[in-house]
Amino acid sequence: MRILSGIQPSGKLHLGNYFGMMRPALRLQEQGEAFLFIANYHALTTVGDPELLRQGTLDVALDFLACGLNPQRTVFFRQSDVPEVNELTWLLSVVTPMGLLERCHSYKDKLTKGFAASHGLFAYPVLMAADILIYQSNLVPVGRDQKQHLEVTRDIAIKFNNTFGTVFTIPEASISEDVAVVPGLDGQKMSKSYNNTIELFGDLKETKARIMRIVTDSTPLEEPKNPDTCNVFALYCLFANEAEREAMAERYRAGGMGYGHAKKELFEVFEAMFAPMRRRRAELAADLGYVEGVLRSGAERARAEAAKTIKAARQAVGIE
Ligand code: ADP
Ligand code: TRP
Repeated sequence: MRILSGIQPSGKLHLGNYFGMMRPALRLQEQGEAFLFIANYHALTTVGDPELLRQGTLDVALDFLACGLNPQRTVFFRQSDVPEVNELTWLLSVVTPMGLLERCHSYKDKLTKGFAASHGLFAYPVLMAADILIYQSNLVPVGRDQKQHLEVTRDIAIKFNNTFGTVFTIPEASISEDVAVVPGLDGQKMSKSYNNTIELFGDLKETKARIMRIVTDSTPLEEPKNPDTCNVFALYCLFANEAEREAMAERYRAGGMGYGHAKKELFEVFEAMFAPMRRRRAELAADLGYVEGVLRSGAERARAEAAKTIKAARQAVGIE
């Protein structure tokens, strides 16, 4: 089974990325042959600063390796190191109905956020389909917001196969239902565009300050509190096991525990999980030659796979 996912290097990775996509993808690397790439072509649709894109790409590489990506098991590479994906994007474009792209929420969302309506932004899902189909992927672990893009990918693959003969495996999304949407500091979806994130490897003082700023209601300290409507509790649950969750929920309901206390505990479980990864990240950052080597050898393995698919696709459409 081929498992594949990608992440854009368009900002610092946060808990939403970790629980929604990174951890499920890292867990899946034990179950099959995993491909994971840094989607720098996609990030170009929103990042206009070359230095930021370079830095963001390196940050994602460090973050994934620090969080447990095993380069022996997982083929880890930069999207742009496999240029075949651009050719496949074009071959897919010719069978992609305009209406399919016009319906995409993420395109409309980006316009509302003030991005100019570029062709790149509009065609984003076709490049994403090429990413997935070029490696004949079976399973694509992503957060819920990417579900529609996976549906578009399947539609395009089916249309291409029906038109030109079967070239592509039809992939499926894998969306971890238990952590479908990680809430941010303000209770909206955690997202770098809402400035409500808790970064994985941000400055520690700042991280603590941000956790202390999580929005709660104003129930006084001594009164019972409802864990099920509390953002702090929702985030705590991502780190805790069943027994710890139950114990924390009990303390909410019993009263006598303030939100400040719950936030401190959240910070502690956060640190327990990320402190060892932060140390590993610092070691990797001191050995960038190693990191570059991992990405280069990943790209070689990825290109070998991509070459097979692009050949089949070229033959299918009649340009070879
Ligand atoms: P952002 O919203 O910060 O721009 P991206 O859109 O780059 O994040 O998301 C990268 C990956 O992380 C995607 O697979 C996405 O579904 C997942 N993800 C992002 N934010 C969350 C969240 N709050 N909860 C769950 N998954 C998320
Ligand atoms: N669009 C995805 C996101 O913003 C990133 C991505 C690009 C991707 N290509 C992909 C994810 C292929 C999975 C498979 O999160």
